[in-house]
Amino acid sequence: MYNIQPKTSFCGKNLKYLPTCHSTNDELLKMIHSSSSFVTEGAIVVTDFQTAGRGQRGNVWESNPGENMIFSIVLQPVFLQALQQFQLNMVVSLALHDFLIVLLGHDLKIKWPNDVYYKNQKIAGILIENVLLGNKINYSVIGIGLNVNQTNFQNTNANSLRLITGQPFEYTLPDLLSQLLEHIENRYLQLKNGKVQSLKSDYLGILFRFNTTSFFKDEKGEFEGKIIDIDEFGRLIVETNFENKIYNFKEIQFLL
Ligand code: BTN
Repeated sequence: MYNIQPKTSFCGKNLKYLPTCHSTNDELLKMIHSSSSFVTEGAIVVTDFQTAGRGQRGNVWESNPGENMIFSIVLQPVFLQALQQFQLNMVVSLALHDFLIVLLGHDLKIKWPNDVYYKNQKIAGILIENVLLGNKINYSVIGIGLNVNQTNFQNTNANSLRLITGQPFEYTLPDLLSQLLEHIENRYLQLKNGKVQSLKSDYLGILFRFNTTSFFKDEKGEFEGKIIDIDEFGRLIVETNFENKIYNFKEIQFLL
């Protein structure tokens, strides 16, 4: 039993709770591929513990049983071309930011493409996996892991709401999930209504190290630069003394 009452019209209306599973993204992908009737826009799979939680770049997503928010939601952005998938990264990053800013304030940023950072530490991760039909996105499975009550991490760069606020978190996980779903629906509807430019300007406004000279590393080594924009494919544009460089995901590292 997992009771949520989000004030949404479709996000979270269909919910499957699994006390333990491999990965909530894998659960939804399996259901999509078997044409399960559970898969409607906004359906979510939520769990207390993943035995094979996956992060970006093939990493493992670490999360103690029952301490954090772990779920995946399926959207059907059939109006998007595969090349426009970064628009979903902006939607979900902004939704997490809208939801957390009230709790954590302005040290909250989005590290490109979609890591949620508090100061220099990560508190939430997003893994978006799309199922294409031709050149369109037929389904998007969006997995979110938000560190809520965990206090010990293998990864020294991780943080949680409890560690930041110094106390057990006042809201229950289902309450937090309901609130986040409302933000996801709002931002997704903004996208569906064609407001990409305002999503982009909101996204740049909360981007970690935007317009700030700092250090990065690419395949040629370390360098100093400034993030000045994101292009239409979601690539990062970094200004250096010599040129503007354009990066795909995985081609650039931020030196913290
Ligand atoms: C990252 O590396 O930052 C992305 C982490 C995404 C973790 C979430 S937890 C729910 C969903 N299921 C997974 O296996 N991964 C995502």
